[in-house]
This record gives sequence, structure tokens and C-alpha cells, in this order.
Amino acid sequence: MICFNPNFLFFGVLLVAGIGYIVYKPFPNDAAEPWKQTFVSSLVRMITLMSKIGATVGVSSKINITRFMVSAQKYLYQGNPNVKVWREEFDGVTVRISKPVTLDQSKLTPAIIYIHGGGWVVLDTDSYAHLTDTISLESEVVVVSIEYRLAPEHLYPVPLDDCVKASKFFLKNARQYGVDGNRIGIAGDSAGGNLAMSVALKLSEEAGSPKLAAQGLIYPVLQGINFLLPSYIQHSNGPAFITGDTMAEYFLSYMIGDWKYQSHFLTNNHTSPAVKQSEYARYVSHELLPDQFQAILEDDYGDNYGDEDVSKKLERYLLDSNFAPLMATDIALGKLPPTCLVTANFDVLRDDGFLLETRLKRIGREVTHQYYPGYEHGFLMHLVMYDGSLPAVQKFCKCMVNYMQS
Ligand SMILES: *[C@@H]1O[C@H](CO)[C@@H](O)[C@H](O)[C@H]1NC(C)=O
Ligand SMILES: *[C@@H]1O[C@H](CO)[C@@H](O)[C@H](O)[C@H]1NC(C)=O
Repeated sequence: MICFNPNFLFFGVLLVAGIGYIVYKPFPNDAAEPWKQTFVSSLVRMITLMSKIGATVGVSSKINITRFMVSAQKYLYQGNPNVKVWREEFDGVTVRISKPVTLDQSKLTPAIIYIHGGGWVVLDTDSYAHLTDTISLESEVVVVSIEYRLAPEHLYPVPLDDCVKASKFFLKNARQYGVDGNRIGIAGDSAGGNLAMSVALKLSEEAGSPKLAAQGLIYPVLQGINFLLPSYIQHSNGPAFITGDTMAEYFLSYMIGDWKYQSHFLTNNHTSPAVKQSEYARYVSHELLPDQFQAILEDDYGDNYGDEDVSKKLERYLLDSNFAPLMATDIALGKLPPTCLVTANFDVLRDDGFLLETRLKRIGREVTHQYYPGYEHGFLMHLVMYDGSLPAVQKFCKCMVNYMQS
């Protein structure tokens, strides 16, 4: 009985304790539900660690192991009898459609196009089924969830192009689905929020293209040139699972599929002095943030440094508003539909959302910001999946439906 050998037991306990020590980063007491939040984030960190170990011993690539493990969350949800679900191809792009069975079929209804998160590299529409079905039920609308192709196999702009194609197809053929083409909103979380806003920007720029009625951005990724915002400084090392390192890795996966510049991001060393002194830098300046976050500011390296070679390779992505929507001019932002914005405090991306709010308000665009100081990146999905807690998602749906009525 090898497992009762005291030596094995000793090393076993040591191993588990060691892994626990690495992945365990407790949420502070002022968080909403510290124990649960610590558990969920530690679980994700555990998956990251296991993917690294798995890749080292040659099981598969790190990304593919992570994909396999995180998509296991789809087995936690067995579907909902009140939602009819089917798949279709919209102009060559697969979509998963949810339609509440109680939806009034006698008149055209609004709809939400949903783009899932996962850093452009992991997760899929099935892993998001619980959330997208819930949004469809709570908003009483059709939800079209896009199965866009993922990076790094498909680099920018492929994932975005898939989303644009599927969205345009739906806007043009809405009637076929009992949907009013003038009342379609787009929404997404994290990297999906990035894609949703990029689609909205693209459609608003194209003459003759049908227009979206609302955009819902849930803790979105909106820019990649300023990794020294207060939210990055505060949360780059946890306790939420998404760190500065993770974001650098995701950005590089989406841009070039090569991670050798990852360490440059954390000090903003990936942008040249010219970029740091440009108009673009003003779009993401900490001066646009609320006072309470500006007070956190530290580590100010100035604006006269940065690796020119790295910057040259990455600028054409990072300064492109279709890649990083906060790089859009005020004129471009002015053409966007009304915005429902959700942000969380324990999130390096928190300030991306606050920057967008300020910029939209300054130009008089409508924005409803639902800020959750006690929660972490990904919380909307965590609440729905692990707790069956609906108030936050209901509040978001209400905002979307409100904008889609008018
Ligand atoms: C993941 O696995 C698929 C199928 O084996 C392969 O085509 C793809 O290149 C892998 N991706 C990565 C990032 O390793
Ligand atoms: C920026 O990168 C260069 C070379 O890659 C390095 O020598 C320098 O120390 C870095 N600066 C900061 C602030 O990280």
C-alpha cells in the first residue's frame, strides 16, 4: 500500500500545501464575499499552474490545456427548459441562439448579440450558455452568442471580423428571427467587451450599415498602452485571477501570437516616448479618473522612456481603435449607441471602464455605469454559475432593454 507510506504522505502534503500557497491569494474583508471570491480566483490560478506544469511535461500546449480545463464549466449547466436553443451559421460564422419560449411571437422583439470573454484565446459559447440563456430570459429577448475563432491560431483581426460578419448578417436578417432590426444591442464581457465595442465602432463608421441600438460592456478590455493605471498598480498581483501578466499575455496572443515582450508591458516599456507623449496617451490618462483612484497613483516613470523596437512592432495594433477601442477619437465615440457599462473594483481593467465613462460623458454621450466595488473581474458569470444570484445580471439587462426600447 504505497499511499500509506509515511514518506509519500509527507511529500504529498507538502506538494498540496506548496500549490495551495502559490495559488492562494485572499480577498480582503471589504470584498463582497471574500471566501467565495478567494476560492474561485484560486481555482483559476490552479488551472493556470496545472497548464504550465502540463505543458512542461509535454501533455499539450499550455493554452490547449487551459482551454480544456476552463471549458469544463459547461458541464455545470444543463440548459433551461424555458429557453429554446439552436445553432446556425451567420455568413459562415457559427452562432448559438437563445430564445425564451414565452417570447411573444406576434410582434417583433429586441435582441442582444453577445460576445464571450476569455482573453481572445479561451472559452466558447457553450461555456457561456448559462449566462447568455439567463440574459435572454431576464431581458425577454433573443440572444445571439458568437462562436468567433480564437487567437493565437487566429490573430487580429480574425476574431473581430467574425464578430462583425455575424452581427451584420443578424442586423440585416433580423425579421426572419422575429426581431426588430432597429432594436438590436451588442454586449460582451472582458475580451468580449473589447470585441463588442469594436464592432459598434466599425458599424457606426460604415455608411449604409445597419446601426446598433445599445452597447453593453462588462468589465471590458479597452486599451493596451497604459499598464500603469491605478487599477493595474492596485491589482496586478491579485487577488483576482486576472493580473498584469495575464493581460500582457492575452494582448500578445491576440496581436502576434508570441510572448517574448510580456515583461515590457508591466512598466509601460512596450511603448516609445513618442507614444507616451501622443494624443493617444491622453485618451488613457489617469487624469480622467475619479479622485479616489488618482490618489493611488505611484511608480510614475515619466513619459520619456520605452523600448523603440518593441513599440514599433506593437503600435499598429495598440493604437488601432478597432483593436483597442479607447484609441477612438471623440468624433468616433460620438457615433456610438448608448452604453451600459459594468465594472468591478478587483480588476486591473477597472480603470479602462472609468476612462470610457469620462470620455463618453465629456462629449455628451449617454452611459449608465454600474460599478461594483466589492466584486472581481468575471463576477457576473461567477454569480450566475456558482450562486444562481441574479440581481447584478438583472440590473444589466434592464439597462440594455431600456436603451433598446427607444
Ligand atoms: C491546440 O490544439 C489544436 C488541435 O490539436 C491545434 O491545431 C492547435 O494548434 C493547438 N493550439 C495551441 C495554441 O497550441
Ligand atoms: C525597458 O527595456 C529595456 C530593454 O529591453 C531595459 O534595459 C530597461 O531597463 C527597461 N526599462 C524599464 C523601466 O522597465
